[in-house]
Amino acid sequence: MEIKTVDDAAVDSSTVGNTTGNTTVDNSNPLPNRLPKPPIQQLIDWIVDPVRYQVQGRQQFGDVFTANLSGLGSMVVISDPKMIQELLSCDPNKFDIGRGNTLISPLLGTTTLLMLDGEAHRNKRKLLMPSFHGERLQTYAQQIEESIASTTQQWQPGKPFAMLTAARQLGLKIIIKVVFGVREGERYDELTPLMRAWLHVLDSPFRASFIFLKFLQRDFGQWYPWTRIQKRQQRLHELLQAEIDERRASEDSDRTDILSLLMAARDENGQGMHDEELRSELLMLLLAGHETTAISISWMLYQVYQNPAIIDRLRQEIASLGDNANPLAILQLPYLNAVCQETLRMYPVATLLFPRIPKEPITLAGQTFPEDVPLVPSIYLVHYREDLYPNPHEFRPERFLERQYAPSEYFPFGGGNRRCIGSALAQMEMKLALAHVVQRYEMLSVDSRPVALGRRGFTFGPQTDVGMVVTSRRKAPNSVSVASGQVQ
Ligand code: HEM
Repeated sequence: MEIKTVDDAAVDSSTVGNTTGNTTVDNSNPLPNRLPKPPIQQLIDWIVDPVRYQVQGRQQFGDVFTANLSGLGSMVVISDPKMIQELLSCDPNKFDIGRGNTLISPLLGTTTLLMLDGEAHRNKRKLLMPSFHGERLQTYAQQIEESIASTTQQWQPGKPFAMLTAARQLGLKIIIKVVFGVREGERYDELTPLMRAWLHVLDSPFRASFIFLKFLQRDFGQWYPWTRIQKRQQRLHELLQAEIDERRASEDSDRTDILSLLMAARDENGQGMHDEELRSELLMLLLAGHETTAISISWMLYQVYQNPAIIDRLRQEIASLGDNANPLAILQLPYLNAVCQETLRMYPVATLLFPRIPKEPITLAGQTFPEDVPLVPSIYLVHYREDLYPNPHEFRPERFLERQYAPSEYFPFGGGNRRCIGSALAQMEMKLALAHVVQRYEMLSVDSRPVALGRRGFTFGPQTDVGMVVTSRRKAPNSVSVASGQVQ
């Protein structure tokens, strides 16, 4: 997830190395390797094709260079694993990170995990994390499986369909059920299209400009995009509040969805989250978790179905489980895991980590950087390093069986104190979707040209939707329940 480069008080082209808005930057720590293009040109290049922008920066200057984006300021882009390792293992108190994410506050308010720093961030993470880990996670497997089955059942042999759209539908179903815990019915039926429409703002560079460019955030009447976004947001809050009120009234202790867990969570002082905070965290999880996972699932299936040898190996591996092919066993399969890892390597949904903004000058791998200028590890540049990943443009899951990568060499979910809290949930969705689909469908891509990676608002994914067609259905395997291990 890539949100912002530097707050609005940061360095502009004329003052790089001198001031960051009101803050003075130490001239003895000048910014390294500044890209020479005018900042406005850099901003345009960045919005239009951030991957090419980063690749050119690296070609010109190597593993560390300074970008300067008009209106957003400067940031140091890093693709040296040693420097990244030092950065991610630093004391988190040395950086602000949440304040680099405030761009998204018109959609989420200012109290969600993404925007917090310091103790407030630590406390909020402690409240959220247990819902995404350990045994808790296993309780979601059955609902994820059911959502996958109901989505894929719509795929008719011979009828082309759009894979990214299908994966986004799947992602919404999972979030509504697993995260919000909303059961099917009137509220569920209203939430689904409403959430889709609200998220629509983030799935193209044009629509996302309403977030990037503050002056567009006005109320110009009911047809104006920003007014519509605000209206949808308000209705979403109303529906989520109704759900929260109903839960409080019924006190059903059997519920295992994430909203119920968050409502019950208490910090060290016995404090829980108030309703507005709960609603905002739910929308934050929707925003952070929906598009990211959907994009990864579409890339994965797109790649796998172009490689018959990969499908054969996956099918053999799943078949080797015999009658024990339950979701928990599937999650442990090494080759299936390698396919997911290779997808996340080759197609990082966020090309950069959240900016780490040092509160004071900092030295990493022998190089000193000034305070207040964001340091940003590039997932994309590291994941395409020839020295780590020979032939990086080749989709080759085996590389993850042949070698172990350090957390600074492979980090699709980031690292340190901001590491993605949904990483286990996302990988569970990916693995269960992959196992389900390869066991049941023969498919082909209907696109004659390779699908390119490009900006989709905040995230990076297929520039066009991924056209697929089911050529035939395979004999469905027996399904096995997670809880009992019984064949159904
Ligand atoms: C394939 C899917 C996903 C990818 C590739 C991904 C990637 C990332 C990345 C790169 C970060 C920034 C980490 C950093 O700067 O160190 C992040 C943060 C985050 N992600 Fe994910 N994510 C995915 C799915 C999810 C899901 C399913 C959820 C929850 C439902 C989620 C919730 C979050 C949250 C809350 C943060 C902010 C953590 C913090 O600020 O402490 N993500 N994610």
